[in-house]
Amino acid sequence: MIYYSDYLELDKVLSAQHPESDKAGQPAHDEMLFIITHQTFELWFKQVLFEMRSVIALFHRDYVPEADVFLALSRLRRTNRIMEHLAEQFTLIETMTPGDFMEFRAFLNPASGFQSVQWRVLERTLGLREERRVLRAYTDALAEQHRAELDAATAGTTLFDAIERWLGAMPFMESGDFTFWQAYRSAVAAMFEHDRDEVRTLAAAEGHDPSEALAQIDANEAGFDAIFSEPQYTDLQSRGLRRMSRNASLAALFISAYRHEPLLQAPYQVLDAIIELDRLVSLWRYRHTMMVSRMIGMRVGTGGSSGHDYLMQTTVRQRIFDDLTSLSSFLVPSAVVPALPADIARRLQFVNEARG
Ligand code: HEM
Repeated sequence: MIYYSDYLELDKVLSAQHPESDKAGQPAHDEMLFIITHQTFELWFKQVLFEMRSVIALFHRDYVPEADVFLALSRLRRTNRIMEHLAEQFTLIETMTPGDFMEFRAFLNPASGFQSVQWRVLERTLGLREERRVLRAYTDALAEQHRAELDAATAGTTLFDAIERWLGAMPFMESGDFTFWQAYRSAVAAMFEHDRDEVRTLAAAEGHDPSEALAQIDANEAGFDAIFSEPQYTDLQSRGLRRMSRNASLAALFISAYRHEPLLQAPYQVLDAIIELDRLVSLWRYRHTMMVSRMIGMRVGTGGSSGHDYLMQTTVRQRIFDDLTSLSSFLVPSAVVPALPADIARRLQFVNEARG
């Protein structure tokens, strides 16, 4: 018969809090909160990793059935709620004052969240590029056994790779004479031409020089070449300004442009959830950074980093899915989006799938 505390192994979980200040004979009341907060964070990191690995497995296939897109979406959404909860959870540790923290901080040296293996596994599993890291030598802080665990746990596909592969395999983007990006490019060019006509007409009517406004339109239009022109895209990739393959980026743009089509609604929600996940990881970093600056001011961390400065830089620099977040630069009003050829429009309806 299963028994509650055996099932949850509470004997292990609840006997794993041993304040260093107690051991030193100088008990500091708030160290219990400090330990339990870290432990609950680590437990939630474990759940997030569990969800992420399943999402990666669902997407990292030649063909992802519609039902699995929904399943992955539900797990991404759960992950996002956990990450949101974790960012919130810093309010608990903030009930400890900097003075209370001082009572036991010295006993923790040189341990630090910098040595959290699960956090490193999570960063890598999501697809953080090593060259983007503020401190490239972060693994030096880990015990050898943990370095090996980190490498073993992150030898597989990342969420970034899985999503890129899934997007790259997106059907519907070509049919007969229709090629999505060329049709989109013509529609965008027509939109800017229309804007130019309006500027010229207004300038003529009001008798002022249109050149500044026209130059602005030219610059806006040139911005679209980042995705329309293959050489420009490759150049941006080589400078680290875009990471995702052009095909995958165009598929993400296609999904965003036709997001109301029934079969694209779930893929669009997936993109939205990934963008939210990236934002929530940054939010976690930011909340942690703010809490740290209150607790230790400008002191260096017990892990040996510059502390607040280092953490702030990771918040700004270590984003993973910029390619998706920045897609909004290439969106246009729906009235400008080119109509889909009838055969593609038909294939994007649920009813056809049921009949098909
Ligand atoms: C009083 C509370 C805390 C303080 C003063 C603090 C301070 C710091 C500092 C200064 C760093 C930078 C590395 C270093 O030099 O040590 C760091 C990193 C880190 N801390 Fe905390 N921390 C606190 C609470 C937490 C909590 C509750 C967690 C939850 C697990 C956490 C997780 C991490 C992680 C994962 C890193 C690595 C971040 C990175 O390198 O991107 N910290 N912490």
